[in-house]
Parts: sequence; structure tokens; C-alpha cells
Amino acid sequence: MAFPETRMRRLRASAALRGLVRETELRPAQLVLPLFVVDEALAAATSEPLATMPGIRRFTVAAAVEEAREARALGIGAVLLFGIPAEKDPEGSAAWSQDGVVQRCLEELKRQLPELLAMSDVCLCEYTDHGHCGVLEEVLGPDGRTVARVDNDASLELLARTAVSHASAGADIVAPSDMMDGRVGAIRAALDAEGFQDTPILSYSTKFASAFYGPFRDVSASAPAFGDRRGYQLDPANGRQALREALLDAGEGADMLMVKPALAYGDLIAAVRRATELPLAAYNVSGEYAMVKAAAAAGQLDERAAVLELLTSLRRAGADVIITYHAKDAARWLTEQS
Ligand code: PBG
Repeated sequence: MAFPETRMRRLRASAALRGLVRETELRPAQLVLPLFVVDEALAAATSEPLATMPGIRRFTVAAAVEEAREARALGIGAVLLFGIPAEKDPEGSAAWSQDGVVQRCLEELKRQLPELLAMSDVCLCEYTDHGHCGVLEEVLGPDGRTVARVDNDASLELLARTAVSHASAGADIVAPSDMMDGRVGAIRAALDAEGFQDTPILSYSTKFASAFYGPFRDVSASAPAFGDRRGYQLDPANGRQALREALLDAGEGADMLMVKPALAYGDLIAAVRRATELPLAAYNVSGEYAMVKAAAAAGQLDERAAVLELLTSLRRAGADVIITYHAKDAARWLTEQS
């Protein structure tokens, strides 16, 4: 049947009809708020507003707990912690220090807000002095000179150590973001060996080498000192390879998968959704956030409508969970709406 028997506008005629047939829902409990937690030694230097991420701040442990309390009151599902340590070294040893900034924040969150889910990003790039996501090795370059590259297998042990230290500080979910091969399996084995067999792994399984991480690297001082991350993160041109990454991590025991960035990667959110039964997260990253904020500040977009449309599109594509810097605003808007 076609027009004039079929008229698509019939079911769009009123808010009640549109509400009845709406296919996709967005709830605050599906949102995750990322938090940048800074070592107290750097607190003075990092309290100023961030030019690259308007509306976002870096928090000391105590302030992060207050921010998490607000997130919880808004019905947000979880917080995701990133640490900015006082000291960096070649191995990123502050990443697994039991009195590291993320570890202390996890302990404090679990003491004060035990019912709020606390996730932790597991990576070395914020902790290494060279800014790469693993430790370096020297290899012979094409012109016969030695060049540094990230040593995959040597990095696994350090990432696993970091994940265990987060779990023992109280992380409800650990989220490795480094894109080393085999890290989900290595982390699972280490967690199990240390008695954390019940700690889930949310793998940043499908993570691209993206220009949209720019503001994050500025905020967390984690830009690579040389080169880039294309030797370990996915090429944005590769969809099939991206799906393989998701399936491999599922095979290594990931409890949840992720596609990151989100907005330009809806095809992969849909593909991973179809290919596995695992819960799926989409990471609406810093550059995506900055674009919307800039357009809204310039009067070019209605921020509220644009944010809710974008986040709903990620749910429609197949994401169960959305990690977004808009989480507090979105949760507020969603609560007002209903
Ligand atoms: C750490 C990490 C990054 C992001 C999340 N975890 C930076 C990177 O890979 O360069 C980016 C998040 C964002 O841009 O919001 N590896």
C-alpha cells in the first residue's frame, strides 16, 4: 500500500501519538559522566576553566566526590574516572600506585557513595612522560636508525597491574582504553588471580585514532610527546577491522564493549550491536562535546535540542550506555521533560 492509503503523518499528528510509537528511549541511568581527577599537588594550576572543554573542570579527590554526588542525585548511571598524576615517568608507574589519584578517589567514592557505580579508565598515557598508552621499546626503523614504539606485550603486565589496583581500591568496572592486543585477556587473568573475578571489564574495544580526542589530551596533559597513536588505535577508514576488534575482545572475556568516538561511527555501533549480545557503550568524546558547545555558544545551535538528538541517535544505533560530558545537562533536561 502506498499513498494515498498510506500516510506516515497519521502517527505524527500529536505528542501523544508520537510518544506511543517512539522506538528509542534515553534515560539518565544510561549515561556515564567522565571525571578528571587531579593530584592535589597540581590543584592550584588546574582549577582554571578549560578553554578546550567549556563547562568541564578538573577535580581534586574531594571535589570529584561532590561532583559524583550531584551526578547520582540527577540519576546518572555511573562516573568514569581519569587520573592526572603529579609525577610522570617512562613506565607510568603512578597508574598502579595504590595511593594514586584514581585509587584514592575510588576509595573515597565507595566510602561516601557506595551505590553509585564507579568505573575507571585503565591506560598509561596520562602517567607516562612520553604520553603513549604503553611502555616503549627501541626497534630498527626503515632507514636503519632506531625508533621508539610501544611494546605491546611488556605493556600488558603494567595495564593488568593498574586494573588490579583499581579493583582493589573499589572500582565497580574497569575500562581499558590502551588498544594493546591481548589486554582484555591479560586483565581478566590478573583480576581473577587476585580475587576480583566479579569485577566486570568494559573494553574500549573499538577505538579509533581520532582527531576528536584533542580537547581530552589538552585537559589530561596526555598528548604523545612524539608520533601519534596510529600504531595501536584503529584506522578510521576500517569498518571490518573495527568489528574484528570488538569480537576479539568479546572472545577474551570482555563483559561490555565500546565504540569510540560515537558520532561519526554509528555504522559501527549498529554493526557491533548486531554481531554480539554483549552490552555496548558509545563514547561521545571530548571533541564531539567541544563542537556542540562551540556552535551553541556562537548561537548556531539550540544546545539542549542538539544534545538530546545526538544522544538519542546513539541509542537508536544500538548503544545501551552513553559516556558523555553532557551527562549532567542531559540528565537534567530528561528529568524536566518527563
Ligand atoms: C586514554 C583515553 C583517551 C580518551 C579516553 N581514554 C585519549 C586517547 O586515547 O588519546 C579520549 C576521551 C575523549 O576524547 O573524550 N587512552
